[in-house]
Amino acid sequence: MSSSATSAGPEHGAADVESKPVIAVVLVAAGSGQRLGYGMPKARVPLGGEPILMHALRGIVASGVATQVCVALPEGDGALRQLCDDFRTELVDGGPLLTLVDGGATRADSVRSAMSALESGTQAVLVHDAARALTPESVFHRVADALAAGALAVIPVMPVVDTVKTVEATTDEDARIAPEVVVGTAPRENLRAVQTPQGFDLATLLKAHEGAAGFDAAQAAAITDDAMLIEMLGVPVHAVRGASQSLKITTPLDLIIAEGLLEGPLGARWVEG
Ligand code: CTP
Ligand code: MG
Repeated sequence: MSSSATSAGPEHGAADVESKPVIAVVLVAAGSGQRLGYGMPKARVPLGGEPILMHALRGIVASGVATQVCVALPEGDGALRQLCDDFRTELVDGGPLLTLVDGGATRADSVRSAMSALESGTQAVLVHDAARALTPESVFHRVADALAAGALAVIPVMPVVDTVKTVEATTDEDARIAPEVVVGTAPRENLRAVQTPQGFDLATLLKAHEGAAGFDAAQAAAITDDAMLIEMLGVPVHAVRGASQSLKITTPLDLIIAEGLLEGPLGARWVEG
């Protein structure tokens, strides 16, 4: 990691590829879940009989990658706080330290809030969406392994199945025909859908978020993941294979798919597809 970066180039922080950094997981669970439409924070919505947050926590702990898990919760949500406190008692000796913080107004605010509560000595951080509650252990391992091999930033990705086009709003005249018109098609073989956990050298991610502190509301809204901030620093972001089970539970349809993953022939949550 960066602390040992004496002989590596700017894109690699580790001189010793065998060294394993001390990793914390930041789990962002402070969103309101508007699109799921349950009238409660998404982390509390039941999935297979348990709140979504519990699945996310169990997945992280099962992976064994982290010495600390810092969860950003909706401010003042006593039920989720209690859930985490109960889960803490289930953790065996040698399990990760579980820390709780209040999240912020945006996802990035929640990430920053959680980063401020990391133990000293933390070298790398995996930022994970609680909404990706069924992420297999193998994805955590691939991200952690890339960090151990010297990456300063690594993201899990999936190939894109749809052809993706760029559009613009149509002018007054064409608006009679359709609201938008196509202006380009990106070559699909180069496109990737991005998931979490996203792994970073901690110092690099802190620097990236410092840069974002002065963003106006429009700029802040355009930042949809942490890797974008790293790209702005000019630091390479490495990509490893994600998993279809890591889907982000966003809409009611996603919740049905997640329920199906738990009950269906794929069976256990941590089986890789
Ligand atoms: N998140 C967060 N703090 C926020 C906003 C989002 O911690 N202020 C977290 C969510 O809890 C989620 C992840 O970021 O785990 C991805 O966000 P998203 O899927 O958009 O969740 P919500 O913001 O809760 O959903 P919606 O946008 O539909 O309201
Ligand atoms: Mg959101």
